[in-house]
Amino acid sequence: MNESRPALDDLYAQAQQAAEHSYSPYSHFRVGAALKLTNGQIVTGTNVENVSYGLTICAERSALVAAVSRFGPEIRIEAVAVANLNNAASPPCGACRQVLAEFTLPDTPVVFPVADGQRVMPFGDLLPLTFEMKAK
Ligand code: THU
Repeated sequence: MNESRPALDDLYAQAQQAAEHSYSPYSHFRVGAALKLTNGQIVTGTNVENVSYGLTICAERSALVAAVSRFGPEIRIEAVAVANLNNAASPPCGACRQVLAEFTLPDTPVVFPVADGQRVMPFGDLLPLTFEMKAK
């Protein structure tokens, strides 16, 4: 959690901008995510819905898939921002938390909209006890 507030604000603004590209004709809920990587790069993504609703991909996973595709499997996430254009609270969904966990640390900051503004939480508070496959 050593990301500065201005850096998180900038990341949040990039998530909002990414939401402009949302393909959400079914929910009309336009979400954007921005990932700051430890290599200094920022990668964004948006939600892409499908007429077969369950095939929808969330903004966070879009961004993550883009980041790995662009920079390779060694990427690590330094900070996460999620935003939407619907003026609604939107912490990352459970599926996205588990997927992000692969590339974050428990103290990685996550900024997202809540009812009265934004909230910053360490990733480990959003998803304690991530699923792992470590032998006993
Ligand atoms: N959505 C996201 O993009 N991220 C989340 O963490 C939760 C939900 C999207 C999926 C769908 O397109 C819309 O929001 C409504 O659920």
